[in-house]
Amino acid sequence: MKSPKRHLVTSALPYANGPIHIGHIAGAYLPADIYVRYLRGKEKDVAFICGSDEHGAAITLRAKKEGKTPREIVDYYHKLMGDAFRDFGISFDEYYRTSSPEHIEMSQQIFLELKEKGVFETHRSEQYFDAEAQQFLADRYITGTCPKCSNEKAYGDQCEKCGSTLSPTELINPVSTLSGSTPVLKETTHWYLPMQHHSKWVRDFIENGKLNGEEHHDASKWKSHVVGQCLSWIDGGLQARAMTRDLDWGVPVPGEDGKVLYVWLDAPIGYITNTKVWAEKNGKNWEDYWKNDETELVHFIGKDNIVFHCIIFPIILKAHEGFNLPVNVPANEFMNLEGDKISTSRNWAVWLHEYLEDFPNRQDEMRYVLASIMPEQKDSEFTWNDFKDRVNNELADIVGNFVNRVFVLTHKYYGGKVSNPSFDASAQFEEAQAAFNQIGEKIETYRFREAQVLAIQLARIGNKLLTETEPWKLQKTEPEKTEGILNACIQLVAALSVALEPFLPFTAKKLKTGLQWEGLKWDEVNVFQLIPAGHAIGEMPILFQKITDEEVAAQVAKLEASKLQPEVEMESIKPNVSFEDFQNMDLRIAEVLEAQRVPKTKKLLQLKLRVGTEERTVISGIAESYEPEQVVGKQVLYLANLAPREIKGVASSGMILMAENNKGELSLLSPERPVESGNTVR
Ligand code: 2FM
Ligand code: ZN
Repeated sequence: MKSPKRHLVTSALPYANGPIHIGHIAGAYLPADIYVRYLRGKEKDVAFICGSDEHGAAITLRAKKEGKTPREIVDYYHKLMGDAFRDFGISFDEYYRTSSPEHIEMSQQIFLELKEKGVFETHRSEQYFDAEAQQFLADRYITGTCPKCSNEKAYGDQCEKCGSTLSPTELINPVSTLSGSTPVLKETTHWYLPMQHHSKWVRDFIENGKLNGEEHHDASKWKSHVVGQCLSWIDGGLQARAMTRDLDWGVPVPGEDGKVLYVWLDAPIGYITNTKVWAEKNGKNWEDYWKNDETELVHFIGKDNIVFHCIIFPIILKAHEGFNLPVNVPANEFMNLEGDKISTSRNWAVWLHEYLEDFPNRQDEMRYVLASIMPEQKDSEFTWNDFKDRVNNELADIVGNFVNRVFVLTHKYYGGKVSNPSFDASAQFEEAQAAFNQIGEKIETYRFREAQVLAIQLARIGNKLLTETEPWKLQKTEPEKTEGILNACIQLVAALSVALEPFLPFTAKKLKTGLQWEGLKWDEVNVFQLIPAGHAIGEMPILFQKITDEEVAAQVAKLEASKLQPEVEMESIKPNVSFEDFQNMDLRIAEVLEAQRVPKTKKLLQLKLRVGTEERTVISGIAESYEPEQVVGKQVLYLANLAPREIKGVASSGMILMAENNKGELSLLSPERPVESGNTVR
């Protein structure tokens, strides 16, 4: 496609199950916002669409955890997220929601059309059902033992300990998290998308940018990690994927009780719904944005969403016919925080709404830092110290300082009127113009970090000019040159007010207001002549307050204090035994008379015990927790009638009982009050 008539830009619909954090922002929202603001600056026809993803197990699990209904959860987070995005300057044209009636209608309609076209297959299969809760269980609702690593807290779709992808039937001892009962397999029928039938064209689409044998997009402009992930999925063999679920929260499957659309079918359709909602409010036709090959569709997402946007959703769109497919999906990688992965469940995150409260009116500081370290090609890392350094050394000392000096001097020497261009600044102008011209190229190829560096370059050029010529020293002796230098600086500030808009919109606005020169368009930026001499400029506030060490320390302390320890894992309780079985165990208090290490072992102690009138020898695996001399003289809990075994050539009778913590450390159990050795335990 040469020069598209319209742009449709989407950012991943975030799940309405928790607040937005800076990792989300750096991944899918800030890059999209920079891209869109740039396009608007170029006066392009663009729609920027997002909204809340309000279905799926993420929502119902959160609701269950908080004792609320899914509706209460999504209402709360939809507002929290929408407000935070708006206040941070993420300039969506529409931020709507997938639990809306408009969306239910749109997704049902698309589902039915696909169904009628024969795009889906139905399959009967056996799935886990919770008989107590009377419902089929989403994969996330089932936990059990991982068949690969024996982690007892693996989920039905994944083991977080060893990273294996699982299916619920692979779990050993599956348990329903809804009722705690053992789920049973029950037959159910679902609609599946047979993705394997689409592998050929999907590969051509991803690898060569071709669709129906024709050039669709420039595949060389796609990020290599995006293409790589897709190809490895395709190489692994695409499979039929269920597009419906047995759940009660979601978009109901028309005509089917108790079934809803798979969240990854309904969520991307949310882009379409929300475009339609926006179009209808604004006197536009949504189909111009979705069903017109003069419109360019770009999805901004994080790397965990790649296959859904590059493979599954395109299959749906193409099967439906008439819909545009994305010309690019510039997914970002992940951003870590202070040396650790950002995690909502462990509360290790900088939440956007809290940042906005803690640093009011300092959106651009965070936007700047996040764009500087955006994980475009590989994972990156945010630290509060680095945040401070970048704000202080770059924003305050370069941009802020430059603009401030220009305004102060122009007011002081020329009563706030732009001075005459009586200085040859062509070298600076050429450099600045070249930088400016490249910003667009970088943004159009999704290199936002480099683009922002180029925008800041305009201030660096101006700062350098001031530092080198020192007009405050020249004013008395060379007034003409001084005028010319400050005129040149005003032109640079004007160019900066346009160049910064995509990145630092709040600052760009202040620059435009201060210059009293607001209407400048991206394509009109010619640094050689922007603002004429004699034009009256206004006041300029201090643009950036420095971040203090105290502010950094407070944020780091806040993070540490809110960090949740990973949930303590408890071994699941074993199946019941009868009272008789219990009574058959002869538990006694015994006294340790002697202890010595078992040679050539790390864990074993050989103990001599007194049990009433008897003496017993026991091999016990406590040597990593106790030295021999620490146990001599102790009273311990002893299972006296465990059948004797030979361990390391020693006959061991019975067993010492101990408590074990999560680190595998052992603790002997002693009676709380004095008893005689040989006394029974019941
Ligand atoms: O990963 C997520 O947060 C999903 N809610 C993204 C959905 S993107 C789109 F398809 F709606
Ligand atoms: Zn595992």
